[in-house]
Amino acid sequence: MKSFFITGTDTGIGKTTIAAALAFAMKASGMDVGVMKPFATGDQKKTGYKSEDVAILANAAQITDPEDLINPYFFPIPASPYAAASRLGLDIDMRLVLSRFEKLQALHDVIIVEGVGGILTPISRNYCVADLIKDMALDTIIVASSRIGTINHTLLTLNAAKKYGLGIRGLIINESGSEGYDVSELKNDLENLSGVPVLCSVPYMKKTHIEKIAEILKSSALFVMS
Ligand SMILES: Nc1ncnc2c1ncn2[C@@H]1O[C@H](COP(=O)(O)OP(=O)(O)OP(=O)(O)O)[C@@H](O)[C@H]1O
Ligand SMILES: [Mg+2]
Repeated sequence: MKSFFITGTDTGIGKTTIAAALAFAMKASGMDVGVMKPFATGDQKKTGYKSEDVAILANAAQITDPEDLINPYFFPIPASPYAAASRLGLDIDMRLVLSRFEKLQALHDVIIVEGVGGILTPISRNYCVADLIKDMALDTIIVASSRIGTINHTLLTLNAAKKYGLGIRGLIINESGSEGYDVSELKNDLENLSGVPVLCSVPYMKKTHIEKIAEILKSSALFVMS
């Protein structure tokens, strides 16, 4: 299996949940898996790491790599990296991010990278998440919701990904509640409209259960065909 970049159609869509479950599933399958969240923004949490996402990813993969390798940039403002850095008067050095990614690649067999926001989320004036995926040369998995409106968001994301020439491994539908599309109909519609496979769908859970989601991923096309 390969390293993947986990992006989504929006913020709060389930990127961390899916990335953590994928790292957990890979680890349980005997792989040496590293995790990375190059940019994290938002409130600082008391989790042992500045970013709660980083804590979830590192715990799922049972990683003890230094925080500044896993998460080179943390901005305590809930905004895109571009907006947060501008407000704080800070510069972002992409060479630093890519060199930390290279270090992680040397330390582990595979790396699961979680993006920030969606694919066009700006990191700096002329550099967005899609540029980062390209520079990391990773295939991407796109997490989409089952809410009404997801077809538009997913097709917009896929169009942008194609424009940037990204390798797309597939979509994962993360059910966001009882309301919204019937998931098997949504899967068919998304596959017919986009030609991109839906790797699996994850049901809504009252309490998210990384181990259960890892089992779903292990029996999905992602593991079975890799
Ligand atoms: N299948 C699910 N069932 C129930 N709750 C879920 C499910 N997937 C994710 N969640 C919850 O939804 C919230 C957002 O999920 P998550 O943090 O994974 O999204 P994200 O895309 O990583 O967000 P961000 O853009 O902030 O990084 C979290 O509280 C998470 O526990
Ligand atoms: Mg996240």
